[in-house]
Amino acid sequence: MRNGAPAVDSAQLRSVLGQWPSGVAVVTTIATDADGGRRPHGMTASSFSSVSLDPPLISICLGDHLPTRALVAASGVFCVSFLGKDQADVGRRFAGMRPEVTDRFAGLSWEPGSTGCLRLADGTGWLECRVEHAYPGGDHTIFVGRVLDAGIPRVSAPLLFHSRSWGQLADPLPDEITISVLDRPGSVSPVLVRDIGDLPRVAALAADGHVVAYVDDAFTADRETTVLATLDALATLPGVQIGCAETGPASPLQVRRVLQDAVVRVRPGRLRVRLLAHHGLGLVNALVAMKSGVREFDAVLDAATGGLAAHDLQLLARQLGVACPAVLPELEARE
Ligand SMILES: Cc1cc2nc3c(=O)[nH]c(=O)nc-3n(C[C@H](O)[C@H](O)[C@H](O)COP(=O)(O)O)c2cc1C
Repeated sequence: MRNGAPAVDSAQLRSVLGQWPSGVAVVTTIATDADGGRRPHGMTASSFSSVSLDPPLISICLGDHLPTRALVAASGVFCVSFLGKDQADVGRRFAGMRPEVTDRFAGLSWEPGSTGCLRLADGTGWLECRVEHAYPGGDHTIFVGRVLDAGIPRVSAPLLFHSRSWGQLADPLPDEITISVLDRPGSVSPVLVRDIGDLPRVAALAADGHVVAYVDDAFTADRETTVLATLDALATLPGVQIGCAETGPASPLQVRRVLQDAVVRVRPGRLRVRLLAHHGLGLVNALVAMKSGVREFDAVLDAATGGLAAHDLQLLARQLGVACPAVLPELEARE
């Protein structure tokens, strides 16, 4: 008991606090050596919070025993970079959990901001700040920073931290999907866009009316950057519905990686997806696509073409309790 209140067991407190999920950021600042040399320093922090829009203020809480705390107090500036779903290793490294790493910044891509602090070039957002207030907060210091500049270098789902584990959003299933059948007479023929170089052709077609443009071979691991850049470019063309097509057999993990980022790129439009039926993985990929935010599927009537069959996709949706209102007479006949 202290001051009449029951003492909270610190192990219990840590466990309870661990139930609170958070995003993950890297806080960077500037260290000045005895000889006047300046070098970057940074640490992982999940205590980030937005404080005020006008004036623009945010806060971070840094342990009083940490070098980063002393360096932020001395330099008066810091930058917060938010981490994306695929950057758990960056989070580990800047939390000192990779003892073999001597330079936390090495091998990653950084840009200097106007305060001189480094920001992550492929994080999901950054805020460059000047210390406005520093309040004591028990064994931590609460720094309130005035935001001088801010940016979004990469649109991606966030990295999360919960119960001492790294994770990402477990997206819910949609209430409803739409299945369109490509290989029936009178259906729209999609244009396959291999890469950005094909875009002038799509722009010309779009000028003539309704076009469904697919980024071809969208789920091959080493094509991710090109695929997303092509989607960005397609999203600027008016009158084009945009899709991702599986050309070679893709793993569910790769489908998820691409689609999570692709869906947000084409908003407010709805991304279409066209999958293969290889080795039974087609339906797994369809489930992954639904959980990644895809609501529009283009399938085939004739599974012999190698494409995912509309009939199977409809059965999957029904099993999952996902409605597909645009049920085609051809599919009903097979029930
Ligand atoms: C996900 C995660 C979030 C963290 N958040 C904070 C935080 O908000 N404040 C803090 O003082 N330490 C936090 N830490 C611990 C620091 O990252 C760790 O002590 C780091 O090594 C400090 O760097 P430094 O010793 O160079 O100052 C966090 C660790 C992890 C794994």
